[in-house]
Formats: sequence, structure tokens, C-alpha cells
Amino acid sequence: MSQIISVIGAGTMGSGIAQVAATCGWQVSIIDSFPKALENSKSKLKSILNRLVEKGKLNEEQSKSILTRIHWTTNMDEIFNSHMVIEAIVENLEIKQNLFLQMESIVSEDCILATNTSSLSVLKIASACKLKSRIMGIHFFNPVPLMKLVEVIPTEKTDCKLLLEVKTILKGWGKSVVTAKDTPGFIVNRVARPFYNEALKIYEEGIADFATIDWAMKEFGGFRMGPFELMDYIGNDINYSATKAVYDGTNHDSRYKPSSIQKELVDEGFLGRKSGRGYFDYSNNASEPEPNKDDAIGNQIFIRILAMLINAAADALNNEIATRDDIDIAMTTGVNYPRGLLKWADEIGIEKVLKLLQVLQSNSNDNRYQPSPLL
Ligand code: NAI
Repeated sequence: MSQIISVIGAGTMGSGIAQVAATCGWQVSIIDSFPKALENSKSKLKSILNRLVEKGKLNEEQSKSILTRIHWTTNMDEIFNSHMVIEAIVENLEIKQNLFLQMESIVSEDCILATNTSSLSVLKIASACKLKSRIMGIHFFNPVPLMKLVEVIPTEKTDCKLLLEVKTILKGWGKSVVTAKDTPGFIVNRVARPFYNEALKIYEEGIADFATIDWAMKEFGGFRMGPFELMDYIGNDINYSATKAVYDGTNHDSRYKPSSIQKELVDEGFLGRKSGRGYFDYSNNASEPEPNKDDAIGNQIFIRILAMLINAAADALNNEIATRDDIDIAMTTGVNYPRGLLKWADEIGIEKVLKLLQVLQSNSNDNRYQPSPLL
């Protein structure tokens, strides 16, 4: 008999999770309070499957059977016989807490309950529930069918056996699974902060413009996208709130301090690609800005951002947010970094990274450059 999973929230993430589970043979119920959201989810999935058939990645029969395995409904009671329920609704603590209470009252005691939250404390979401041992975070990345990484987040109350069970299920779905501590940003959203923050700082200091900083990271670091094009792609509102969540959650550690430029852009509605303008202009007639391809400046920009990324990775390891291997896997499979940051540090030489951070700190008198004790 195939296993049953329920996904609450038929938005971007919920629909993606449902697609992956159904593709791997699971029966899926997608529950959303808004019928319109369910309709959208269904029609989007149909067109995704059609495209996969056109490309020859699925045949007609496979596409049909994926669709028959998914059931869209507004009725929460239908989660009653689920093996696992994954919540992917709006990012709001109180609403998620209430939903977990409701889910607890419907499912059986051996049903695993998980949240896909990207910035809230999993333990806080679970706080009102009676049975906390079956609750954990399962953090997927967008788009779920394409991004291999999943961060699994046990709380201090989570049963280790259930954690192992979930990891096995996710690996069966073809995912690369890492374990992260229940702290803001988990691994990826925390360790990646300097990619954006330090790029903004370099711009603020007048060292280079957006296009040049993007060019430097791609040319010298081998990153697929530069920080500014990536922020525009993610959405500046989402990126800003991720930075704020990590900054607030680390007691305002200056390493994670958001830039005022980012907030200004959000306030002005320049959210990136989705609003037609962010750091760059995406309107039809806009010309593409040319980078200043000066190798010396490019190298200096790259090494400075890389040193800050390595410092954040070392800080995560030092704070036992994840193991060394999991931190490197998370950054290569979650945000497609060309190399794991801790491995990269060893290749460049820790001494060199440390020296650069010390120079930056003494020149600026800014604690953001304070090297992690691990370095
Ligand atoms: P979304 O806005 O696309 O979808 C949320 C859905 O939840 C909507 O369809 C809404 O109608 C539904 N909903 C809201 N309250 C509900 C309730 N009480 N009961 C049932 N349905 C309800 O949001 P998205 O982007 O899919 O995000 C969902 C969760 O996943 C959030 O916690 C977010 O932080 C997290 N996440 C988002 C990522 C992203 O890139 N979008 C990446 C990783 C995690």
C-alpha cells in the first residue's frame, strides 16, 4: 500500500512538495483554506507535467498517475490517515501554532508533523502541542522539484527515530538531506548572508557598482549568479526579511546586519524581477549595465566576500548548527556554490582568510569582520 502524506498550503512550496511526493508514488492531499489557491495549484501542476511530457522526461501515463495520486481539498479533516503532514502556509507564528494544534487533534499519534518554515523557531511553532516528539522542521528550497537540498530540523524534543525515518523518506524522494539546529536561517539562509551583505557593503564603500560586483563573483569565484542578480531573482523583500530574521535571531550579531539599501529598495517597491525593477531594471528597453572588468578590483571583491562567507560557515560550525560535511553539502546543493565553504577555506589556507578578516576589522573598526574563534 502506498504511503499517505498531506501538505497544508497550496502555494509555491506546498505544490512543489506535493509534486515531488506524488512523483515518488505517495498519495498526497493538498489542503488550503482558499479554493482559488487550490485551483491555481492544480492548473500549475498540470502545465508543469505537460511540459515534462513534451520534454520527454515523463510519459503520458506517468503524468496521469501523478495527477491521480494528488487530491486537492479545503477540508482539513482529510489529513486524518496521513503518515506525515507538512505545513507550508503563510510565514506567521501564531497562525502556524494554531494550525499545529488543529492538526494534532485530527491525526493519529504516530503521524509525523513538520513545518516548512524558513525563519521561525520550530519549537515555538510546536509549543502549544501535547506531543512534541513527532514535530520537526523540513525545509525545502524553491523550486522544490529542482532543488536537491532539504534541511531537516529536529527540536530538542524531537524523537531521533522519527528524524531518521524522515531522512530516509526524503532520500527516497531523491533529496540531499542535511540536519540543522533550530536556529534562525538554519544552515543555508544563515551562512549565505555575507554573499549579499558584504556585496552591499562593498557597493556602499564606492568600490564597485552592482554589475562589477556580480561579474567579480562569477569570474573569479565561479558562482552561477552574482549577489545583486540573485537578490533580484529571490525578491528583495524575501531576502531582506531573511537577513532581518538572522540578525534578530543572533542577538544583532553585526556579521548579519542588514543594509539600509536593501530596506530602501523594499520600501520603494523595487523588489527585483517580479516587480520589474530591483538593483537592475528589467523593463523592455532597459540596457544591461556593463561591469568594469578590472582584474585587480574583481579579485579583491571576490576574496573579501569569500572570506566573509567562510567566516559565517566557521561560525555555524562553531555554534554547532550542523556538521562540517552538512554545512558544505548545504551550500553546494542548496544555493549551488561552486565549492563547499569549509573545504574552500582549507584550499586557500585558513591563515590567509584570517589575515584578511583581521585587516578588514582593523581598517574599519567594524565588528562584522570579527573572525570566528574556529578560524
Ligand atoms: P505561498 O504564499 O505561495 O502559499 C501559502 C499558501 O498557504 C497559500 O495558498 C494560502 O492560501 C495558504 N494558507 C494560508 N493560511 C492557511 C491556513 N491557515 N490553512 C490552510 N492554508 C493556508 O507561500 P510559500 O512561498 O509557498 O511559503 C510557504 C511556507 O514555506 C512559508 O512558511 C515560507 O516561509 C516557507 N518557505 C518558502 C520558500 C520560498 O522560496 N517561497 C522557501 C522555503 C520555505
